[in-house]
Amino acid sequence: MDRNLALEFVRITEAAALSSAKWMGRGDEKAADQAAVDAMRKAFDSVRIDGTVVIGEGERDEAPMLFIGEKVGLKSNDSPAIDIALDPLEGTTICATGGMGAISVIACAEHGGFLHAPDTYMEKIATGPAARGLIDLDLSATENIHRVAEASRKPIGDVTVVILERERHKDLIAEVRKTGARIQLIGDGDVSAAVATAWLDSGIDLLMGTGGAPEGVISAAAMRCLGGDFQGRLKFRNQNEKDRATKMGVKDLNQKFKMEDLARGHVMFCATGITDGPLLKGVKLFTGGRAKTHSIVMRSQTGTIRNVETHHNFSLKKGLS
Ligand code: FBP
Repeated sequence: MDRNLALEFVRITEAAALSSAKWMGRGDEKAADQAAVDAMRKAFDSVRIDGTVVIGEGERDEAPMLFIGEKVGLKSNDSPAIDIALDPLEGTTICATGGMGAISVIACAEHGGFLHAPDTYMEKIATGPAARGLIDLDLSATENIHRVAEASRKPIGDVTVVILERERHKDLIAEVRKTGARIQLIGDGDVSAAVATAWLDSGIDLLMGTGGAPEGVISAAAMRCLGGDFQGRLKFRNQNEKDRATKMGVKDLNQKFKMEDLARGHVMFCATGITDGPLLKGVKLFTGGRAKTHSIVMRSQTGTIRNVETHHNFSLKKGLS
């Protein structure tokens, strides 16, 4: 995969972040999401790829743009065939309430690299490079925490676990508290939380619990680039979701997916902050039509991680595409 593509993708997440950031705190989740989707879809038109959305805004009948299977990019004879997993606004509620950690995100892989995950739930575990290869969804939360503590050479009391604050996590939270580990409960945004486990100075060691399956695939791509670890198992709410998964090619509905089962081969990941968060600063809007964005771009092939701070001057961009 051409490394220059990574910077092209940053332009796309920047565009989505800039548009949705205008809706920060205005209480309108739909408008914030729509702004991100519209801007991302438009920005794809100037990138020379033969792209296919495999993780997107939903099935074709429920999402008019960036739906699963949609072709994106400026296709020419030599443009690379790329599969794309995206979320124009990860954390719609966060953006609508002006909370912490909304991001715009794209991951891409060579054709066939991503699990085609239906819009269902996924039980997840993620950790940074120190405990790579040691976490396992088949083990208890207690055992996983002990393994991470030992690999990170920390007392259990210094281990921090992020969990989505949901009723379904009552037992998990109780078990983690019993180990003595610290817990950070988050309202939304488990992609950022997964990435944070592999982010040097985040202070977060583990993500545990059940969140969106599409977000799980995107997180796995990021963890491949960061040298961390991730596992996921689909959690279905009904037969319809099981049927969809089967139709999308999932053979074993109870399979424990390792990181490489979710995101194979060379992958790229980029994200731009919409609101301030643990990984990225949010969009800042200044006088005179200026703005600043913060993004990260990473590639699994080289492990290079770039922090991109971009200064935008919209007064000069008027009339340009
Ligand atoms: P959206 O951006 O689609 O609102 O997703 C936010 C999120 O918190 C994800 O990060 C997470 O995986 C999922 O929702 C959890 O789903 P639920 O809110 O149904 O528990």
